Amino acid sequence: MKCKMCGETAAVSLRSCHAGFCEKCYQIYFRRQVKRGIESRNLFSRDDRILAALSGGKDSLALALELVELGYNVTGLFIDLAIPGSSAKARGITEEFCRAHGLPLIVADLGREGLPIPEVKKLLRRPVCSMCGKIKRYYFNKIAVDGGFDCLATGHNLDDEVSRLFSNTLRWDKAYLSDQGPVLEACPGFARKAKPLWRLTEFETANYAFIRNIPCHSDPCPYSGGASFGVLKNVLQKLESGMPGKKLDFYLGFLDRGREAFAKEQESKADALAPCWECGAPTSSGDICGVCRAKRTLAERRA
Ligand code: AMP
Ligand code: FES
Ligand code: ZN
Repeated sequence: MKCKMCGETAAVSLRSCHAGFCEKCYQIYFRRQVKRGIESRNLFSRDDRILAALSGGKDSLALALELVELGYNVTGLFIDLAIPGSSAKARGITEEFCRAHGLPLIVADLGREGLPIPEVKKLLRRPVCSMCGKIKRYYFNKIAVDGGFDCLATGHNLDDEVSRLFSNTLRWDKAYLSDQGPVLEACPGFARKAKPLWRLTEFETANYAFIRNIPCHSDPCPYSGGASFGVLKNVLQKLESGMPGKKLDFYLGFLDRGREAFAKEQESKADALAPCWECGAPTSSGDICGVCRAKRTLAERRA
């Protein structure tokens, strides 16, 4: 197969656009998709201070590299979950990446915060993943708001977005469907959130990370196992292989024609929130938020 842009031998073949690219032109293609993702939905501007959540994985490091090279004002954020055999490795890769690219990095250490994930896991009878996700999002938001950042960017890709949309649709979860998308505007207590890689699939990001030689942390989380998103991603993969380009179509169709049907859910969601008595973060609990509650329980157990 020949490169669609220059006619050289192709290194990456993309069925979704029926085309192949050589390594050099693939980077041009990738950048165009990132720029289009940012500009077409007004994710942020060059005047904004962006806090990029970096897990040490290929998606978030590819995101950081693109944002830096596109000239955005970026600071990295790594949440150290204190998971033995995993977090230190991911942290080392992220720190090294930021050093190499002159990127300032903020590290939130959950061990120091009194919330190491292995201890949180012991509090729960169900898998820790959803609580871990909640804690991560809590710190993403808190650090972005407290630090006066204009936007929090994550490395979610098209596959993440489409499987989440599919899962929300299967449950007809109106509240989640009301605010899913590449950008979520700031509102009291919440920073603006953006997903600049939303037009690119996991396969496309993996190819980019490989071509750009980005050293990344690819070990799965030791606590993840049989996550239902894996099943959904497989179904969507089958759909995509039979109908190339369908994933992006489905997502764009939702953004342009589906989401507005759920808009009023947003208001009722915001109405149900009040500041946490302990940390001030918005919560629907009526007293202290779930993160402060977990912190408190763990502190009591240690005492
Ligand atoms: P995941 O939910 O693990 O697929 O991650 C989605 C996105 O969340 C990543 O692309 C990162 O931007 C961010 N993220 C996940 N884990 C961390 C972490 N430990 N520290 C900072 N950002 C993270
Ligand atoms: Fe949080 Fe695995 S990354 S439980
Ligand atoms: Zn709180």
